[in-house]
Amino acid sequence: MTTAIRSRITGTGMYVPERVVTNHDLAQRMNTSDEWIRQRSGIAERRHVDGSETPMDLALHASRRALDAAGVGPDEIDAIVLATLSPQHEFPGTSFFLHHALGVPEIPCFDLRAQCSGFLYSLATADAFIRSGQMRRVLVVGCEVHSTGLEFTDRGRDTAVLFGDGAGAVVVEANPDADDRSGLLAIRMHAQGEHGKKLWIEAPGSSYYPERFTQEMFDAGAHYPRMEGRFVFKHAVTRMPEVLRETLDAAGIKQDDVDLFLFHQANLRINEFVAQSLGIPPAKCPSNIERFGNCSAASIPMLLDEVVRAGRLRKGQLVAMTAFGAGFTWATAIARW
Ligand code: UT7
Repeated sequence: MTTAIRSRITGTGMYVPERVVTNHDLAQRMNTSDEWIRQRSGIAERRHVDGSETPMDLALHASRRALDAAGVGPDEIDAIVLATLSPQHEFPGTSFFLHHALGVPEIPCFDLRAQCSGFLYSLATADAFIRSGQMRRVLVVGCEVHSTGLEFTDRGRDTAVLFGDGAGAVVVEANPDADDRSGLLAIRMHAQGEHGKKLWIEAPGSSYYPERFTQEMFDAGAHYPRMEGRFVFKHAVTRMPEVLRETLDAAGIKQDDVDLFLFHQANLRINEFVAQSLGIPPAKCPSNIERFGNCSAASIPMLLDEVVRAGRLRKGQLVAMTAFGAGFTWATAIARW
């Protein structure tokens, strides 16, 4: 009889640029206030790059920390999967620049585009590579530089105040020890393309002819994110509990047995609402949105790294990670640490 291979996270890392941008700083640039931003989102400050770092640089720092934590060299990984919605160039993906900077051998790498659920989609991809026996170690990265793509004016204030820059990374490895129960227990993913335009950046786009970007698009701000905030909020608070319950069932885990719930850090109110509707105590729901804002694909691995380094996730404990984002996409992964 063959024993199924299980994958597990063996190292975590995160990195944010040094420049802190407070709500008060933003209130100098547009018609907003610390009170509005805190009340609606729970955010107090976020980090923005200062021109000296690219997305790849953020990803590189986070990846090196994850590799160090796992005790693995760059030459020992079999693939890189990098989730982002803010790639540093149209093509190739940010993962290729990371590939070069890390100095890895000619292993495959690719960017995965599933927005704020991108890290969990990437984790599922790494898990599938490992469980199929194709690979033994995969570096999974979530990385965003939002700040250079936001509109810091009254027109863009609804999104400009929410997003921050950062990167998080994990090393996912095959667990060779059949007696060790740690590892990824279940991952479930969903999408609803019908709502693709409820939160999106319209241009540049290859759907436009004869050119992908025009002066008119620039003047209309089509290169900035646009969001129907209330619509997104309503779907997030419905889909997150749904997929969390579905994944708990798939893993055969009772909700009360989960030690930590790591929710995507889009809005503290969304997460409070989700936790309350499921009867999850706030103490089990750590957050870092107050300090970093919404870092999309990087949010969950950044939070995971913080709780691991703070000793809040110990061997044998159960962690459930749940995201919702543009696409729409939503997903949960449950792991025994
Ligand atoms: O990560 C991907 C997933 N993203 C999300 O999950 C985000 C989901 N949506 C949300 O988190 C919330 O909808 C927001 C935080 C974006 C907005 O909160 P809201 O309570 O839904 O506010 P709203 O969009 O309904 O706007 C309320 C008012 C409006 O003014 P009027 O029409 O009532 O006069 C806005 O123009 O707040 C105004 N407003 C602002 N005021 C001050 C919008 N942005 C700002 C701002 N500062 N930055």
